[in-house]
Amino acid sequence: MASTLAILRQLCDGGFHSGQALGRHAGISRTAVWKIIHRLKKDFALEIHAVSGRGYRLAEPLELLDEPQIRAHLAAASAGQSNGIEIVTTVDSTNRYLRDRLSLPVSSGHVVLAEQQTAGRGRRGRRWISPFGANIYLSMLQVFETDASQLAGLSLAVAVAVNRALIKLDARGTGLKWPNDIHWQGRKLSGILLEMQGETSGAWNVIIGIGLNIGMKSEAAEDIEQDWTELNSILAQRVDRNKMVALLIAELETAMQQFRQQQLQAFLAEWRRHDVSLDKPVQLHLHDRIIDGIARGIDEQGALKLESEGMIKSYHAGDVSLRYQRDD
Ligand code: BTN
Repeated sequence: MASTLAILRQLCDGGFHSGQALGRHAGISRTAVWKIIHRLKKDFALEIHAVSGRGYRLAEPLELLDEPQIRAHLAAASAGQSNGIEIVTTVDSTNRYLRDRLSLPVSSGHVVLAEQQTAGRGRRGRRWISPFGANIYLSMLQVFETDASQLAGLSLAVAVAVNRALIKLDARGTGLKWPNDIHWQGRKLSGILLEMQGETSGAWNVIIGIGLNIGMKSEAAEDIEQDWTELNSILAQRVDRNKMVALLIAELETAMQQFRQQQLQAFLAEWRRHDVSLDKPVQLHLHDRIIDGIARGIDEQGALKLESEGMIKSYHAGDVSLRYQRDD
């Protein structure tokens, strides 16, 4: 993997590099370079042009995740000094990886990032499409010394934190779709998957998994089963992934401190301001049925309030889709 990364780092600028120069830099033969180029194409689905006499180049420049850069952005925001940050090149799922690290142990705030997930996990057993170097796949551990009843609505607070980070980057018009999706003009931009593990001592390890589309590759996107969007298109410019990661870490830390003190109460007004389905006709998809109704916001526990057949009831699980119109 070390030689593969050494070659990839050379290619990141999008310019041509001869096989000889790449080999010299990584301390390997031209044949070994050729094999690595083949691997980058096959395993990471990277488009690499080979032109005789000029060498190899990536079809488009690539910015790799980089811990010093993330730390520099965090320092500029006076945040994140105590977070452990681990970057893995390829992993099945950052949530799964972080869960396996818990025995080490790792401390609250530890972050795992991946360039690629081969089995990214979404809510309700879905896949999260995670092509190489394109988006952000982040998992953060938060340890709560409390019982589970105090954690109601935590995933909604995380969604508010992700939205705050997007607003800081000047992304306009993003909104929250219950329970914890970030949308933009009816298309999904980011998804959140919380996985919790209780301990006899009463402490809860919460793994917060965030997938944020930055520059989704169109070939990979063919497998996405819902309308989606990406930050580069919304902002009409290439987003610095390392900066975005730092914003996410900083906002998550702040939000989790707020949650420890006031639980969901601290986020209710903000959630309502950004709720894309408020007072709109929706369908709530439960595991065994679909309910049509009007979304009436969330209650103090973070449950969806749905008006149907003249009554408003609260629902703690399910998926919302908007009827008749895009949720923008
Ligand atoms: C959803 O279905 O909306 C939730 C998607 C969560 C995806 C993220 S990517 C980082 C972390 N690792 C995973 O396997 N899933 C989450």
